[in-house]
Amino acid sequence: MLYSRIAGTGSYLPDRVLSNADLERIVDTTDAWIQERTGIRQRHVAADGQTTADLAEMAALRAMEAAGVTAADIDMLVVGTTTPDLIFPSTACLVQARLGANGCAAFDVNAACSGFIYALSMADKFVRSGQSKCALVIGAETLTRMIDWTDRGTCVLFGDGAGAVVLKPSEETGILSTHLHADGGYKELLFNPVGVSAGFIDEPGHGVKVKMIGNELFKVAVRALARTAEEALAANELPQEALDWLVPHQANLRIITATARHLGLPMERVIVTVDRHGNTSSGSVPLALDEAVRDGRIQRGQLLLMEAFGGGITWGSALLRY
Ligand code: ACO
Repeated sequence: MLYSRIAGTGSYLPDRVLSNADLERIVDTTDAWIQERTGIRQRHVAADGQTTADLAEMAALRAMEAAGVTAADIDMLVVGTTTPDLIFPSTACLVQARLGANGCAAFDVNAACSGFIYALSMADKFVRSGQSKCALVIGAETLTRMIDWTDRGTCVLFGDGAGAVVLKPSEETGILSTHLHADGGYKELLFNPVGVSAGFIDEPGHGVKVKMIGNELFKVAVRALARTAEEALAANELPQEALDWLVPHQANLRIITATARHLGLPMERVIVTVDRHGNTSSGSVPLALDEAVRDGRIQRGQLLLMEAFGGGITWGSALLRY
């Protein structure tokens, strides 16, 4: 049996840091409220002119270096993003040209915050089937570009960033399973009302701004993530105790803690970056993975559960032996 295995990871965060104290000067909020309700202390914000493709390119180069591959090796490039530079070409095509990986398949996947898990799942299928020998999978976002900075319910949550992995075939082990889900019936809980076909409306109440019913979304997220964790373990006939690490989507520390508790995992075995990164949407899981790989917490051979949840709603998991 052929697996796809993560050969290298990389990530990138923009330099500018926005602290909770900075936000106190922008909206009616407090550092204490943000930390207590979300666990977030700060987030990174892309510089003027810095785009999703810029962040994606940096993360990709680091992942390629870690995997020991060059642009000529890459035969598939998938970017999970809901904040593409342009409507088209895709961010994947923009990154492909910069890397000089021209000629291979390149496309974006829009599944909001689940974008990286969706992209990873696509690439996994291509590598396992033998169609790809070296896939570059990126989760990259500049979500702060579509935030309403007068809405304290959303502007304190999001940050910008990107993470990437290189997938290569392996006879021994790698990604054991991925599970993807969506329920468009919940679209009103988190959405951006602007689009090409729906029309660009530029008037009060509209504009390119995220709308969210946070407390409802919170409950749906906790339920969906618990179910998807159980689903991944059951599909592989593995007990909860077999897990070495949970690498969750970083939306809210309380959501992460609830998932860990459901799995019976102590927080020491959960990778948490939400305190420093905020919610970087598709960037969050590969950013967390890369941090823990580089600081030596995640070791080769360990069992990892990655999961994400986002607007759509979408959710999913990847269970893998790193
Ligand atoms: N500072 C101070 N007070 C605030 C703030 C703020 N930044 N934001 C909201 N409040 C107030 C509300 O106005 C409300 O006040 P009221 O009681 O006087 O009406 C009170 O705090 C409670 O509001 P809730 O929304 O019920 O607070 P909750 O505890 O649910 O926390 C939060 C809000 C943090 C948004 C939480 O619901 C959450 O994290 N939800 C999930 C969001 C999420 O994960 N989104 C991303 C999904 S991934 C993707 O696809 C992008």
